[in-house]
Amino acid sequence: MKDAGTDALKRTLGPTQLVALGIGAIIGAGLFSLTGIAASTNAGPAVVLSFILAATGCAFAGLCYSEFATMIPIAGSAYTYAYATMGELLAWIIGWDLVLEYAVGAATVGVSWSRYVMSFFHDFGISFPAQLAASPFEPVTLPETGEVIVGIINLPALFIICAISLLLIVGIQESARVNAIIVALKVVVVLVFIGLGWAYIDPNNFEPFIPPNTGEFGAFGWSGILRGAGLVFFAFIGFDAVSTAAQEAKHPQKDMPIGIIGSLAACTILYVLFAHVLTGIVNYTELNSAAPVAVAIDRTDYRWLRPAIKLAIIAGYTSVILVMLLGQSRVFFSMSRDRLLPKVFSDIHPRFRTPWRSNLLFMAGTGLLAAFAPIQVLGEATSIGTLFAFVLVCGGIIIMRRTHPELPRPFKTPWVPFIPILGIVFNLSLMAGLGWTNWARLFGWMAIGLIIYFTYGRKHSITHNLK
Ligand code: ALA
Repeated sequence: MKDAGTDALKRTLGPTQLVALGIGAIIGAGLFSLTGIAASTNAGPAVVLSFILAATGCAFAGLCYSEFATMIPIAGSAYTYAYATMGELLAWIIGWDLVLEYAVGAATVGVSWSRYVMSFFHDFGISFPAQLAASPFEPVTLPETGEVIVGIINLPALFIICAISLLLIVGIQESARVNAIIVALKVVVVLVFIGLGWAYIDPNNFEPFIPPNTGEFGAFGWSGILRGAGLVFFAFIGFDAVSTAAQEAKHPQKDMPIGIIGSLAACTILYVLFAHVLTGIVNYTELNSAAPVAVAIDRTDYRWLRPAIKLAIIAGYTSVILVMLLGQSRVFFSMSRDRLLPKVFSDIHPRFRTPWRSNLLFMAGTGLLAAFAPIQVLGEATSIGTLFAFVLVCGGIIIMRRTHPELPRPFKTPWVPFIPILGIVFNLSLMAGLGWTNWARLFGWMAIGLIIYFTYGRKHSITHNLK
């Protein structure tokens, strides 16, 4: 007979840890790399408005996520909600889609992590062969010399994915503890940057606040603010990862909305202030850098802070990867429990009580992506996959209110159906802005998923075997 204790996940997370989990997943490559790029190529100082727009879209989705998370407080995130509301096929589609958000998202941040690590060591005169820290499919311009190189393999990115996967195998409680330390460090860096940088803001840099459009859609003006919102959307990805830990929350019904909305709200405030200070210190025309924070610090009397800030950013990225990989294994855990995927994804380690085999498999898959795939492809695939998940979750709320009006809802999304409809429209527009190549990749990935569903999942699933 099975011991119920050994195949269950441990309920150890309280509200503070859930908010920390959210912030841990949210603040990362989006803020520390994309803010400068969005300001210099799309929005100028009005990049703060891009952040507010992106946050608004996420807030609509976050409210819908919260209703689901309190109604169906088990692991699996959007997958589980779709399973309960829209049937097995749509659930499969969304679960499969979430691989783009979580596993591919982790790989994206892994690659960005590798770049910050290289730059950190370079500041100390230590050089690592650049070809061993870049994808073979992506030319990289070395910031130091301006030389363009093509890589062989991104070893640092592969290393960080493997290290964090192994940490996750050891256990959620230990992982949450490491996460809490890193989150504190990351928030401190952002606060220090805002606090110290405020005095260096030159109001002339805010003139004009919305630089006039150059004639091309997305290059400044209002369309630039919109395009910028699409870009910085990546910075908000992760708040929904809180919902994947519902089965490990002590009081999911009370704490899930706090975790989801709380982490989103905290990050929005930090992002807007951060972007305001960044564009106030450095003119937006000079911000086209993947490490804009270093550019800004160089304009202050705190240059000596540069290595510490880079180190904190490097540490900060690790918690994003951690939560993403955690979310990924939990989604596949649920799918495997429903027998849509082989049992290997829900095998729990007898001592650590974590889905260790799943962690190992994703370590291999995500590691390969981080080692070889170009960052732009990874980043855009993450965004389109996440936006698609948001659309389905918003749609799910409307369906669920009709089909199951009687179910207790400890947290209710306000103004249904307006909020979910706004969420759908908003997130679809951001998807449209990502262009046809990303749509093609999304369809390609979904086609593979459907083949697996019809050849494996449908035959083995609990639903079909009960009939
Ligand atoms: N929001 C996460 C980041 O910006 C994915 O790194």
